[in-house]
Amino acid sequence: MSKNKLTKFNELNSLTNTFQPNQKELLNDSFFLKGKWSQEFKNSNPIVLELGCGKGEYTVNLAKSNPNINYIGVDIKGARIWKGATLAQKSDLRNVRFLRTQIEQIDKFYCADEVSEIWITFPDPQIKYRRRKKRLTSELMLQSYKKILKKNGLVHLKTDSEFLHGYTLGILEKLNVEIIKSTHDLYKSNTIDKSMEIKTFYESMFLKKKKPITYICFKFI
Ligand SMILES: C[S@@+](CC[C@H](N)C(=O)[O-])C[C@H]1O[C@@H](n2cnc3c(N)ncnc32)[C@H](O)[C@@H]1O
Repeated sequence: MSKNKLTKFNELNSLTNTFQPNQKELLNDSFFLKGKWSQEFKNSNPIVLELGCGKGEYTVNLAKSNPNINYIGVDIKGARIWKGATLAQKSDLRNVRFLRTQIEQIDKFYCADEVSEIWITFPDPQIKYRRRKKRLTSELMLQSYKKILKKNGLVHLKTDSEFLHGYTLGILEKLNVEIIKSTHDLYKSNTIDKSMEIKTFYESMFLKKKKPITYICFKFI
């Protein structure tokens, strides 16, 4: 039987690779690792975020393949993070951390130029107009990613949602970005690398339903 949410929350508190900021830190913009993640990882390797990481498949699998890069999975749902964080701890992946927070607050956790790359993996498309500010690729969200990204830092978006794919391309058109790759069907496109092939929990569900997976990679200019 799978563990219940309460047990996972309690276990999450004891995992040394997971951070859950308190309200005071958020209010005072005083999160203790902001600008200091290199000290936490004990190296100056690049830092890559997975936003809306869920169970953290990208965070964990990229970390296994690239020990000289640091990965941080970010999500608000503790019971989901628990899965990736527990696996990373058991696998002794020293280049993995998880952060439980609202992505709207991301610039309270990283200072300018602290992040090298961002993966956004199967975010909720938030189709309803009144939910538009919740889209992880809204203009406001993208501006907050720009604040923390290094120059030429890549942003990747993988989604099954044609709506979110098109919406994001529309938003990007208004911003000063270079689109590196955009496809309506990643697995039918001819340029696919190992990192694009990692399958998240949600992606596996969509693939079973034979939904094409879309992908965008861009950088701010
Ligand atoms: C559809 S799930 C995808 C999870 C995982 N990336 C996957 O592909 O299996 C979207 C995830 O984004 C998280 N999420 C959505 N909006 C968020 C926000 N504003 N802040 C933090 N997490 C958010 C949800 O908690 C959820 O785990």
